[in-house]
Amino acid sequence: MKGPIPQDKIEEVKNRADIVSVISEYVTLKKAGKNFLGLCPFHKEKTASFTVNSDKQIFYCFGCGEGGNVISFMMKAANLTFPEAVRALAEKTGVVIPRREMNREQKAALTKMEQIRKLNEKAAAFFVRDLFLETGSGARSYLRDRGIGDEAVRVFRIGYAPEGWRHLRDLLEREKIPLGLAEQAGLIVQKTGDAPGGYDRFRQRLIFPIEDAGGQVIAFGGRLIGSGEPKYLNSPESPLYVKGRNLYGLSKTKEEIRRSGCAILVEGYFDLISLWNAGIKNVVATLGTALTREQVRLIRRYTLQVVASFDPDEAGRKALVRCLELLLSENVEGKVLMLPEGYDPDDYVRTFGKESFLDRVNDALPMVDYYIDHFIGGNQSLQKDRDTLTAAIALLSRIEDALQRNLFVKRISETLGVDQDLLKREINLMLATGMKPAGEAIRGQNERKIDPVELFLVQLLIEHPEKIPRMVTENVMDYMEDPDLKTMGRMLVERYDIKEFSVPDATALIEGLENERIRTQLLRSLVESPPLDHSVADRVFDDTVHKVKRKWYRQQHGIIRRKLVAAQRSGDQTLCHSLILEKDKLLREERALQSGQGLNE
Ligand code: GTP
Ligand code: MN
Repeated sequence: MKGPIPQDKIEEVKNRADIVSVISEYVTLKKAGKNFLGLCPFHKEKTASFTVNSDKQIFYCFGCGEGGNVISFMMKAANLTFPEAVRALAEKTGVVIPRREMNREQKAALTKMEQIRKLNEKAAAFFVRDLFLETGSGARSYLRDRGIGDEAVRVFRIGYAPEGWRHLRDLLEREKIPLGLAEQAGLIVQKTGDAPGGYDRFRQRLIFPIEDAGGQVIAFGGRLIGSGEPKYLNSPESPLYVKGRNLYGLSKTKEEIRRSGCAILVEGYFDLISLWNAGIKNVVATLGTALTREQVRLIRRYTLQVVASFDPDEAGRKALVRCLELLLSENVEGKVLMLPEGYDPDDYVRTFGKESFLDRVNDALPMVDYYIDHFIGGNQSLQKDRDTLTAAIALLSRIEDALQRNLFVKRISETLGVDQDLLKREINLMLATGMKPAGEAIRGQNERKIDPVELFLVQLLIEHPEKIPRMVTENVMDYMEDPDLKTMGRMLVERYDIKEFSVPDATALIEGLENERIRTQLLRSLVESPPLDHSVADRVFDDTVHKVKRKWYRQQHGIIRRKLVAAQRSGDQTLCHSLILEKDKLLREERALQSGQGLNE
């Protein structure tokens, strides 16, 4: 009987399992200074950037950004769930984990997922069988006409859902599978007022099982044979299937992507299968929806280079910009595969052949170059130039990496003949005011700029927990702005053990951070930073706290200034007056703070 693992057992496993020896079973590690270095198992690399820190029992890869503790390593390296990873490590280290019952709710949720998984497998097999029955002859000749060979049909488990409303339903009933479950899996549709039991969602369609990266069927896509609407029908979202979290084909192509060092990104089922069928196997498909950050991260586990094909229309242009932005901010190199008008990858490879397609892949332009040549350059009107500039600034302001951003700024300024410093100022302004360009989706927490000073402060608290009480006595938390870092600070304060001068298991707190960028940044800084002397740490702490506070005051001044400008414009005298008073008060406080701390600028 499986069940939740008691927290103390998890701690025991973590304490006993040495991260260096565990990782050594997967990666050849060499001692380098206080750390160990090796080739990252999570992405392809030639020079070692995978770093393990034995003191802090964490790892971090400077190439792909994966990082964590010994448990997260096991999860990623061996493709295990959290409890599986803990149990595997427990076995290695001889920790005995009592088998406990789950509570009823947990059991139900797990059973449900497990049942849907099994049902999906059953349905996939059912659709495959039907493809090869008499009723499937039309579907088989459709596949033949589109040039898809037997091997591709077998590997991708292509199937067929015959005409009629209750083929699958009858089968499920015969096997005593609750139809409610099939409804949750999206295989059966139940409309209110219908005859109880519902009807098959997929009818007279070629079926493509959608698998997660581990190869489990999580949903289905179906293409109409012949004409009609909609051309493609996908399973609705379910506990197993969340759109934008998976990539079609990845379970079958990930090894080839890793081996070749590049992933070809296409849109459709047929594009992927057709390329695979032609012998080009390092492909993944988004299935017609906009690329997501999660999908980019999924790809990044296997490669740092993506060649993406886009349609040459307006929608394709939008998709390209979005893709470029995501890839840049995740440090993945992107290239643009342009096919002649009217050809998708499937059409192209079948018309011109594998070699010609591969030539196009080899000739693909770096996405940045493409963006500059096609979106920025050209003889455009002044107004168009302005719009372009605004869009470019928005794009630039979302590139985290300063080096990447500056290179890009330089090239855009050259192309548009705009002063580089001006461009940088605009970008900073956009970052500072949190302005969002019109029509842009709201930036999620993961896209927020991380303040390096606050990040460093949290890092100091983790490395020198004896400073934690001063966070309270000096009200530092009130001056922190990043909500996630603030929460982290608060948790450190709460868990601080006064007798031990330490925080038990601070790395677990990092692991628990929802904001992935902050999580990896923190791990990265912890791995990188040399230990500080206590006397030095004291000074650095003072200095950092001071910077955090000063930044807060600067920001407050900015806010008041903007409010003042607005109040003056609208001629609101009373508001002006109270704002000036407020500003005065702020200045006095700030001065008191500086003299009180005896710090001068
Ligand atoms: P074929 O016409 O079979 O060659 O398909 P395609 O792969 O070329 O499709 P297309 O370029 O029209 O669309 C790309 C992808 O978008 C498809 O593979 C589907 O995943 C998705 N898609 C296209 N049409 C529809 C639709 O009507 N409904 C849904 N849900 N998805 C669609
Ligand atoms: Mn097509």
